[in-house]
Amino acid sequence: MTGDNESPQDERSGVSRKTLLKAAMVALPAPLVLAAAPAFSGETTPSGQSLDPTPFCDDGDDPTPPQMEGPYFKPNSPQRTSMLDGAGTRLTLTGSVYGLGCQGIAGALLDFWQADNAGNYDNYTYRFRGHQFSDANGRFTLTTIVPGLYPGRTRHIHVKVQAPGRPILTTQLYFPNEPRNATDSLFDPRLLMNVTTGGGGRVAAFDFVLNVPQGPGPSPTTPTTSPTGSPGGTWRAGTAYNVGDRVTYGGSTYVCQIAHTAITGWEPPTTPALWRRV
Ligand SMILES: [Fe+2]
Repeated sequence: MTGDNESPQDERSGVSRKTLLKAAMVALPAPLVLAAAPAFSGETTPSGQSLDPTPFCDDGDDPTPPQMEGPYFKPNSPQRTSMLDGAGTRLTLTGSVYGLGCQGIAGALLDFWQADNAGNYDNYTYRFRGHQFSDANGRFTLTTIVPGLYPGRTRHIHVKVQAPGRPILTTQLYFPNEPRNATDSLFDPRLLMNVTTGGGGRVAAFDFVLNVPQGPGPSPTTPTTSPTGSPGGTWRAGTAYNVGDRVTYGGSTYVCQIAHTAITGWEPPTTPALWRRV
């Protein structure tokens, strides 16, 4: 595979004024600024349709489109930002989680899973599975490898993304210039990462836009750790929960699926990735 997915023409026409402003503000080294620019496909769908640009928050596009979960998701992945394990080309994926108002969402859950270098999923342990939470600005970084190919699919990474107190977005991320992109019926150019060569391997960028309303001023989704009352249950914001812990909330019992510190907005009924009702 090659690393670049933007032609010079794409770069000229696709970078919005706000993108340039954003790039100037963060003042990243040149290769990283390029990686943070909106990704344009330069490819065609299997059906030959002309392609829309990858959704980019500043352009006011629709939220990141969902995709099927597939058969290999496993709950309870470990919390980590590096899934490096075994052979493969190193891949560093960075990006932000935005709401509809282009404000970064702090504390968003990102749960990644992918095939190993040989195209196999580990369904027994947690190799190449991991979750993390976006930082105060909505940023995240994942260190992993370029996933291998397996029959019937183009190269991809699975991910679930959830803002506190909001529904889960399940989707997949794709690599540019993959021959199988043209024949994989699931491939969606709006989910192409911007991939360049660097960092001892590949450097990828993708920004998620969640269907989370955001008005002017502070983000309403910014979580707080101030304890709140629980409606007739034992769940409490500010409490560190481990996998298997049980709480009650609203008259129901829930079992913790992912170790985390509870915050307002992550009440068990609204966070099925964290809590399973029993
Ligand atoms: Fe897959």
